[in-house]
Amino acid sequence: MTDSHDSNPAIENYLLEERKFEPSTDFKANALVSTANIYEDAETDYLEFWASKARELDWVKPFDKVLEWNPPFAKWFLNGTLNASYNCLDRHVAAGLKDRVAYYFEGEPGDSKSITYGELLTEVEKFATVLKSLGVKRGDIVAIYMPMILELPIAMLACARIGAAHSVVFGGFSSNALSDRINDAESKVVITADGGNRRGVVIPLKDNVDEALKSSPVVESVVVVKRIGDKHQITMEKNRDYWYHELMDKVTDATGPVEVDSENLLYLLYTSGTTAKPKGIMHTTGGYLTQVAYTHKIVFDLHPNEDIYWCAADIGWVTGHSYIVYGPLANGATSIIYEGTPDFPDKDRWWSIIEKYKVSILYAAPTAIRTFMKWGTDYLKRHDLSSLRLLGSVGEPINPEAWMWYRENVGLEKCPIVDTWWQTETGAIMITPLPGVTTTKPGSATFPFPGIRAEIVDEQGQKVELGGGYLTLNRPWPSMLRGIYKDPERYQQTYWSKYNEKYFVGDGAKIDEDGYLWLLGRIDDVMNVSGHRVSTTEVESALVDHPSVAEAAVVGANDATTGQAIMAFVTLKSGELGTPEKGEELRNHVSTKIGAIAKPKMIIFTDDLPKTRSGKIMRRLLRDVAEGRNLGDTTTLTDPSVVEEIKRKAAANVTED
Ligand code: PRX
Repeated sequence: MTDSHDSNPAIENYLLEERKFEPSTDFKANALVSTANIYEDAETDYLEFWASKARELDWVKPFDKVLEWNPPFAKWFLNGTLNASYNCLDRHVAAGLKDRVAYYFEGEPGDSKSITYGELLTEVEKFATVLKSLGVKRGDIVAIYMPMILELPIAMLACARIGAAHSVVFGGFSSNALSDRINDAESKVVITADGGNRRGVVIPLKDNVDEALKSSPVVESVVVVKRIGDKHQITMEKNRDYWYHELMDKVTDATGPVEVDSENLLYLLYTSGTTAKPKGIMHTTGGYLTQVAYTHKIVFDLHPNEDIYWCAADIGWVTGHSYIVYGPLANGATSIIYEGTPDFPDKDRWWSIIEKYKVSILYAAPTAIRTFMKWGTDYLKRHDLSSLRLLGSVGEPINPEAWMWYRENVGLEKCPIVDTWWQTETGAIMITPLPGVTTTKPGSATFPFPGIRAEIVDEQGQKVELGGGYLTLNRPWPSMLRGIYKDPERYQQTYWSKYNEKYFVGDGAKIDEDGYLWLLGRIDDVMNVSGHRVSTTEVESALVDHPSVAEAAVVGANDATTGQAIMAFVTLKSGELGTPEKGEELRNHVSTKIGAIAKPKMIIFTDDLPKTRSGKIMRRLLRDVAEGRNLGDTTTLTDPSVVEEIKRKAAANVTED
């Protein structure tokens, strides 16, 4: 076990947690699943279990084999053909649900609109025509860099409609990060907006695209949605940049869905790993859609003709792909899309949205919940939250206090909480309670979803029956990543080399005497900041890229609100001074290189970094310093006095927002 797991102070608290919450009789009475038989059914024949869920989709040609498993390469629902946009739109319209609202859109400045399944289909059909007119073909990968507006799911579904894949880049990433992703996927078309709204300020998305394209000559066309208008001027390059509305106005014919193989690439989504280069995670069509649709239905107990569902994530992350776009639309759900932040114009924005739309299911990250705890309950009390009937959590471990607060203040003690564990790589929820079945314990994600096999193992790969270890997944699942784009070796190495044929998750976990699983956070060099994955190595590379920096070491320190906070220890080149201004310059440099989510909370300048005799930076010590703990044994250090100096500097040298 690496040091980041050992030093997680939450571990012991988790295991002392004894509160239990059974599903209420009321909830059980209407729940889609209310007995534990589903687990046995799935275990009897897990392939048939998934096949039966796949058959809930509309296939053009039915699959003739459920799984082909050549570890670590999987194919699901072989020889079946289908189209994801058809399954999300056309089939609902054909079933008479044309007028059901697909999304209620709430813009940050207060504008709002809704779009029905029928209208969404028309927009997607038209935009698919636009993509074709720009030369996008089956198998191409289209880059999408947009705010949270309706044109974002429209663009994604239009790609799927013509058999192209999308690569959505979160709007908070910098032009550098965007350019890297465009180049890796060789995207010839980029879809963006003139800007997005965030806390009353414009995020200059198109300006960032212009900057990115200076190092991405592969791009031939840019489509720009007008979201901001006159408030923020942009430049449009002739014969390269086109306004979305102008292209859409010209469309006269609607593009139908093409038939694609079950294993056709649906999308790439880049995520941080333990090296500086993000990984292009590949998801394909049939298996992915099967698992996102089924988990979305069962985990959230979705009653599509009654529920108003809100996943408050950004579509730029996997949570949004699976549980704002594909899962909910495949199930014919009515969802909310909110453009902005929870504190604009005031700290009650979420609660006002819940009241306005009578949201019944809320899916959010623990960081948000802890932030609301800090702000206090007055903001909630201003609004009627009685429409809520189920709450979800995702993205990072939820501590029992936050879980209880969520239950009492948001769920008004009546809503079950589903703490769902999964990753970009797993595509869909893997460990979770079932709300009508599972007795929950605050802070535990409870049990693997039916059909999923998860195990905790020790360093040697032996199963741990009680206590802590590494989480592994021991059986293929339909929405599993199909690999890392252009890098099969890295796929094998990262996930499948530590334990033969067991997928290595990268998270520490514990199992208690009742068999409940408790997720404990990353055990590798990946930080989890506000539920977002950031690689320590990526931030270090960005820092060392600055002309003043000689060496940098980055650690994630526990943080009461954001889960982890980025702490950077930096040695400057000789002649450079570690002033507060230099600290600010470096923080901004990281933001420019990667994006604001990767901006260190604190930069600590030091003349040296603590290293072992073999020259390895001792991150455990740095984390201890960053978290203000007493330092243990430092005898393996070349120069133990370095740590004392760093401790002194860390105490004095705080650069924070
Ligand atoms: O460490 C786990 C944490 O988030 C990581 C995956 O991050 P990402 O690929 O960005 O996907 C986030 C949204 C699915 C995991 O390796 N994580 C996610 N959900 C939970 C969690 N940790 C504890 N409990 C969770 N419910």
